[in-house]
Amino acid sequence: MSKKFYIKTYGCQMNVYDSERMSDVMDGEGYSATDNPDDADMVILNTCHIREKAAEKVYSDIGRLRQIREKRTKDGKETYLAVAGCVAQAEGAEMMRRAPTIDMVLGPQTYHRLPAMMKESKTQRASTGKSRVLDTDFPVEAKFDHLPKDMRGKGPAAFLTVQEGCDKFCTFCVVPYTRGTEFSRPLGDLMDEAKRMADAGIIEVTLLGQNVNAYHGDNGKGGIVSLSDLIHHVAEIAGIERIRYTTSHPRDMDADLLAAHRDVAKLMPYLHLPIQSGSNAILDAMNRKHSAERYMELVVELRAARPDIALSSDFIVGFPGESDADFEATMELVRQVQYAQAYSFKYSPRPGTPASVMETQVDESVKAARLAELQAELNKQQSAFNAASVGQKMAVLLERRGKFEHQLVGRSPFLQAVYVDVKDKLDESAHTPYTGLMGKLVDVEIISGGPNSLQGKVA
Ligand code: 5AD
Ligand code: SF4
Repeated sequence: MSKKFYIKTYGCQMNVYDSERMSDVMDGEGYSATDNPDDADMVILNTCHIREKAAEKVYSDIGRLRQIREKRTKDGKETYLAVAGCVAQAEGAEMMRRAPTIDMVLGPQTYHRLPAMMKESKTQRASTGKSRVLDTDFPVEAKFDHLPKDMRGKGPAAFLTVQEGCDKFCTFCVVPYTRGTEFSRPLGDLMDEAKRMADAGIIEVTLLGQNVNAYHGDNGKGGIVSLSDLIHHVAEIAGIERIRYTTSHPRDMDADLLAAHRDVAKLMPYLHLPIQSGSNAILDAMNRKHSAERYMELVVELRAARPDIALSSDFIVGFPGESDADFEATMELVRQVQYAQAYSFKYSPRPGTPASVMETQVDESVKAARLAELQAELNKQQSAFNAASVGQKMAVLLERRGKFEHQLVGRSPFLQAVYVDVKDKLDESAHTPYTGLMGKLVDVEIISGGPNSLQGKVA
């Protein structure tokens, strides 16, 4: 029987992508995936550091895993534990001291070295009874050079990491410290990967990066391509019908990228464009390098380029020094924009960041009250956006089966989850029903809309 691995992913889409790549590495080592840590010979925790006491959550999971390991040891089975991702990068050595259960610590830049680390770990256990393998370098050889060549069987929508790291140094954020400085992958590599995706039947590609619109890749001819250039190139690949990108910084929304929303039909009418706060004083203190007015201008320009564009954002409430008036400016901006959806968070001081040592920290109770007020407004806007979809016909990319029989789930152009009843579309001739629809772009009539999703039927 082949050995099994279990990966738990915390945090953002970059981590989801990294977990997929670590799964590929484990596949390559002859391991198969399991959803059950009790069965796993190798457990990987892919951690996140961006908010809350993320590290504490990881430690409590490690505690649970220690018990699983003890039980497995009694049954004569070995278990290895690797901690990966941003917590590992930020405090890997300390984690190893605190939790002897950990065999390996690897940062987001070194997962391609996992096989070598596993070998080293086994050797150490054989000779000393324990394992302490740590690799949180920012190696010169790029992990992207070690991507697998085959991507079949992964569903019709995929991420393509085009850029990583961030040089913006927003004063609340750990990303520049954990993911390092900005790095853009060369155009040629990305086109190869996107074509392989198309060959494998992938229809929707999301270009991924911490600061994706800062993308500036080598074109192989001594020049540089921007994100809008890249979008135009990817749009030419037959088979790829939908393109998205995330996450963007308002500062890097240039005229070409705005024009791409007008000119590239495959670019989906949805944009996640975080502003964090509607107050200029707070935006300054956050080092966001733009004003609320500039953001509102961008919103107007985006809607001129693509009138049906749906907007999303991130907000932080209770940043140090945020007054009632500052918060009210955020509420006012939200009311003006009218978002299709958005994420909002209480400010969480991250060790090592400038904002964490500002003296004007806001009370937890004030943060909680502001968050509740903001989320009530954002939920209202999201429900209104979903309600406005009812009666429309839209192309939905059907990605997976739903909970109920005769149900498939997919995404609308505006990234809404759509539950589609396919009862009358049963494909009698096929062994698996609905094979004709799964993984395809299908025209769907929206029948109803809730706060978080839509329901529809095949049009
Ligand atoms: N506290 C709260 N939210 C944060 N984010 C990043 N750092 C912090 C922090 N220290 C939020 C921002 C960012 C999103 C990914 O996470 O809104 O856009
Ligand atoms: Fe963090 Fe700011 Fe960079 Fe986004 S732009 S990753 S919030 S430092």
